[in-house]
Amino acid sequence: MTKLWGGRFKERTATDVEAYTQSISYDAALYAQDIRGSQAHARMLARQGVLTDEEAKQLVAGLDRIRSDIESGQFVWKPELEDVHMNIESRLTELVGDVGKKLHTGRSRNDQVALDFRLFVSDRLRVWRKLVVALVGVFLKRAREQQATLLPGCTHMQPAQPVSLAQHLLAYAWMFTRDAGRLADCERRVRISPLGAAALAGTTYPLDPASVAEELGMYGTFDNSMDAVSDRDFVIESLFCASTIMMHLSRFCEEIIYWANPSFGFVRLPDAYSTGSSIMPQKKNPDVAELMRGKVGRVYGDLTAMLTILKGLPLTYNRDLQEDKEPFLDADATVTASLSLMAGQLDALTFEAQRMHHALGLGFLNATELADYLVGKGIPFREAHHITGRAVALAEERGVRLEELPLADLDALCDRIGEDVYTVLNYDAAVARRNTSGGTGPVAVAAQMDKLERWLADNA
Ligand code: ARG
Repeated sequence: MTKLWGGRFKERTATDVEAYTQSISYDAALYAQDIRGSQAHARMLARQGVLTDEEAKQLVAGLDRIRSDIESGQFVWKPELEDVHMNIESRLTELVGDVGKKLHTGRSRNDQVALDFRLFVSDRLRVWRKLVVALVGVFLKRAREQQATLLPGCTHMQPAQPVSLAQHLLAYAWMFTRDAGRLADCERRVRISPLGAAALAGTTYPLDPASVAEELGMYGTFDNSMDAVSDRDFVIESLFCASTIMMHLSRFCEEIIYWANPSFGFVRLPDAYSTGSSIMPQKKNPDVAELMRGKVGRVYGDLTAMLTILKGLPLTYNRDLQEDKEPFLDADATVTASLSLMAGQLDALTFEAQRMHHALGLGFLNATELADYLVGKGIPFREAHHITGRAVALAEERGVRLEELPLADLDALCDRIGEDVYTVLNYDAAVARRNTSGGTGPVAVAAQMDKLERWLADNA
C-alpha cells in the first residue's frame, strides 16, 4: 500500500503507529463537508483555468458517487489511509483515474481539514440553535399554563418571597435565549473559509478563495494563511457555548430533582423519564435529570481539553490539532441529546400546585409584605424591618403563620397596624403587586411572555 504522501519513504509505517495516528475512526463523520469542500475547490480550479471544465466535471461526479456509496454503506474505509480526506481522495482516483490526482492542486490537508471542520462545527451550531429555540418554546408554553400557580421563591435555598411558577420557568427561557444568541454570534466566526491558505503560506496557483466561500454559503475568507491553518479558537468558542447550555440545563435538572423529592412534591415525574430501584419498590428516580447534570462534567472536560491542546502550540499546523475532533463530537452528541430530552421531559412534567401552595405557608414568605405595609404607614424601612422581625419571632414561637397572629398581638408590636394588614399578607396579593418590569406580577409576566413570543417568531 503506497501512502498518498509516500514518495520519499522507503519503509512502511509501523502498524501501531498507524493505529496511533489514524483519525478515520472518528473523522469519517466529516465526509459530507469534505466532499462539499472538494467539489467547490474543483469547480473553482476550472473557473480559474487551472483545470479544464471536463476535468472538474469528472471530479464532481466521482465525489457525488462516493457520497452515495458512503450513505448506502458500500464505501470501504481503510485505516491505513489515515483520515477521511485521504480515504476519499484515493477512492476518487480509483473511480475517475488520473484526473483524481489533480483535485489536490493548490490545496493542503491543512486548509482542507480546517475547512471541513469549520463547515461541520457551524452546521452543528445551527442544529443546537434550533433545539435551544424549541426548548424556549416549551418553557413558554408551560409558563402560560402556570401563571396562577405560586411557589416559594428562594435565595440561599431558603424561602424568600412568593413567585408565580410562570416567572420561575420564564427565568430559564431567558437563559436559553442568550444561549441561542451566543450560538448565532459564534457561528458567524466559525463559518469562514480557510481554503486557499494551502499548507501555511498560500499558493502560487491563481485561486479564488472568495468564490469557494460563497459557493459553500460561508460568510468570508481567511485574512492570514498561517492563522487560517492553525486557528482552532472556533472549536473553543463552540465548546464554551455547549458548556453554557449544559450548565443552564443542569440548573433546571437540579430543581427537578429536589422538586420531585416527596418532602417537596412540587412535580411528578413522567414514567417515561424516570426509573425504579432494584431493591426499593417505592422508588421513582429522576435519572434523566441526574445524568444530564452529570454530563455537564464531560462537556466542560471537552472544553478544557481543547483549551489545553491549543495552549503553547507554535504556528502553524501541528498534528496535535487532530485532537480537536473527538472533544467536539462528544460535546455535540451530549448537547443535542440533552436539549431534546429536556424539551420532552419539561413538556411531560406534572406540576403539583397544591403542594407548592402549601409550601408558601412554611417560611414567612409574606414578611416583606408586612415591612412594606408599615413603610406605607409612614414608618422608616429599617424600623419596619425590625418590627416585622419581632412579629416573625412571635409567630414562630407560637407555631403559626404571620397572617394567623391576631390583630391585638400585631397592634402590640406597632399601633399603626390595622385590619387591612390581612389583605396585604395574602400570598396572591403579594405576587399581584409586583408588576415592575421583569417582576413576578401577572402584568409583568404577561409582558415577558409577549416579548418571548416575538423572540420565538424572530428566531424560528
Ligand atoms: N487528520 C488530520 C487532522 O485532523 C488532517 C490534517 C493532516 N495534515 C498533516 N499535515 N498531517 O488534523
